[in-house]
Amino acid sequence: MDGIKIAPSILAADFGRLAAEVAEVSAAGADWIHVDVMDGHFVPNLTIGPPLLPALRAATTLPLDVHLMIEQPEHSLAAFAERGADRIGVHVEACPHLHRTIQQIHGLGKAACVVLNPATPASALEPVIACVEQVLVMSVNPGFGGQTFIEAVLPKVETIRRLIETSGREVALQMDGGITAQTIGPAARAGANVFVAGTAIFDNPEHRGDYRGAIEALRRAAG
Ligand code: DX5
Ligand code: ZN
Repeated sequence: MDGIKIAPSILAADFGRLAAEVAEVSAAGADWIHVDVMDGHFVPNLTIGPPLLPALRAATTLPLDVHLMIEQPEHSLAAFAERGADRIGVHVEACPHLHRTIQQIHGLGKAACVVLNPATPASALEPVIACVEQVLVMSVNPGFGGQTFIEAVLPKVETIRRLIETSGREVALQMDGGITAQTIGPAARAGANVFVAGTAIFDNPEHRGDYRGAIEALRRAAG
């Protein structure tokens, strides 16, 4: 994968004008649109489901990167795929049959992402690294935007970068949670190359209403 990618999380957008927000960040240089799906069980918060996807799909031509923070995601994969998801992420903690779930995502013609909570070790990836397109390392405990970056996950990112290199495959290494112009540098140096940012783009006091400025500041700080 070439260079750094920035994926604004719509969780921090103004839901009252969501399509316009998605179009604006797309025009402002975003690479992917990150969609946070929460079920109130796997995480203590409820957000959006498949019915919202067509509105997002219509608002941008960028890849829709769907992050499923839900139990039994295998039951919802088709609904998200059919409505416009391009990349689908499932948590290892929610998938007792992870390999099968990855195969289901591939069967739907989508890129598969495996997501690790902060307390989940890199070794959970070893059996599946050969068959995923993307790994997401959470740098907060999932459930809410605007939380503080957990620095303790950085050694795990370094380990996963080495694992990807050993595999010889091109696997995107994404981080999500508390990404700002201050934290993105250390995250990139640890080996991540795709960054989700909600607050730092949609609700940044230094770049109020200036999504291009916010995205460029992140890209610059990533180096
Ligand atoms: C957290 C979500 C994140 C969140 C990021 O559970 O997965 O994508 O929206 O928000 P910030 O960038 O504000 O930490
Ligand atoms: Zn997310």
